[in-house]
Amino acid sequence: MRNYLYHNLEMEKPNPCLEQMVADPFYRRIGEDLKRRKAQNRWREIKPWLPPRIDLSSNDYLNLRSDPAVLAGAHQAMEDYGSGSGASPLLFGFLPCHQELLDDLLRWKNKPAGMLFNSGFMANQALVRHLPGPNDLILADRLIHHSIAQALTQSRAAFKRYDHLDLAHLEELLEKKSGRYETVFVITETVFSMDGDYPDLKSLVNLKNKFPFILILDEAHATGVYGPTGGGLAEEAGVLEQVDILVGTLGKSLASMGAYILASIPPVIDYLINFSGEFIYSTFMAPSQAGAARAAIGVVQSANDKRVRLKVDSIWFREQLAEMGWERDAFDSPIIPIHFADEREAIKIGNALLEKGIQTGIVRPPTVPEGTARLRLSLHSGVDRPDLKTVLEVLKSWRK
Ligand SMILES: Cc1ncc(COP(=O)(O)O)c(C=O)c1O
Repeated sequence: MRNYLYHNLEMEKPNPCLEQMVADPFYRRIGEDLKRRKAQNRWREIKPWLPPRIDLSSNDYLNLRSDPAVLAGAHQAMEDYGSGSGASPLLFGFLPCHQELLDDLLRWKNKPAGMLFNSGFMANQALVRHLPGPNDLILADRLIHHSIAQALTQSRAAFKRYDHLDLAHLEELLEKKSGRYETVFVITETVFSMDGDYPDLKSLVNLKNKFPFILILDEAHATGVYGPTGGGLAEEAGVLEQVDILVGTLGKSLASMGAYILASIPPVIDYLINFSGEFIYSTFMAPSQAGAARAAIGVVQSANDKRVRLKVDSIWFREQLAEMGWERDAFDSPIIPIHFADEREAIKIGNALLEKGIQTGIVRPPTVPEGTARLRLSLHSGVDRPDLKTVLEVLKSWRK
């Protein structure tokens, strides 16, 4: 039987399909690209999910995917509105369950206008590709998520990256460039998906007093985890009001699938409804997704005990890693990267963990910059201290 658990470290047996491709220029080109990727140990493949003993790879931070209230929300919406939405949102697909979900999100994050998308990836694409105009500038964190990075190259606006989390660099760029553009957009994740670190949001919004810009925050990994009601890092920092546009996914702490964009100025939403093909031309999210997310919001808002425990565990786990000699970062999010200069090391230790039934993310370039391969451990409420101690034991024996 094929072993689904292992990431291949060495080149596998020659692949007959790749061998046959040499004659045709198209097949030769893609075949060579694939061979190169394999030789670099960067081969990606889809593997059926097998339940690990300890999962440290999902983003379901509060462990709500099997929560009875969330499942009941999904069932109820499906019973009320059917298994699918049946159409794109402007035709027929935007159903009362979607409106109810949107209303809850707007109340939660205290914004006057918003819309839903089928995924966070699509939401970010829509935002960055359509909102900034040809006379505008987008300043984005250097390690911004691919859904934004890819869209930057397709936007009508100019763009420039500032060094990761480096607000002094951002300020320098704002000072140098602001006057030359009609509108400047600044876009960043709050909690970064691959590093678990985050910018100082209070200082970031303070920059708006010096240089006018539209601030866009992607709260994908912070929603549910930060803030007294799980509203995200902007809620925690008390700066929600100063954020012009908030993006978030329903696919992580909200235990569903889909996304939202919320805005302080309603015409931003009107604009996207009118000009974003990502929204207009795609069958809208299934009612069960909306029902699950809506129920999850209710659970998340009153899950402070889970949030506190997750933070305590995330800090404790970092301290344990530091005791083993790994570098301690200054953050407390549940995303904990363990870096390896040699990506083969990341694969080997990831495999050693898998052998014990512990699933982590083995993340290599090009997903992360060269020389920063890592194990990405995402803690969540479904793992307890004994589980974490088991993980640490494996890491410790590897370290020795
Ligand atoms: C920061 C960030 N933004 C957006 C997305 C995309 O969200 P979705 O999974 O809903 O497409 C992700 C998901 O990995 C993410 O990490």
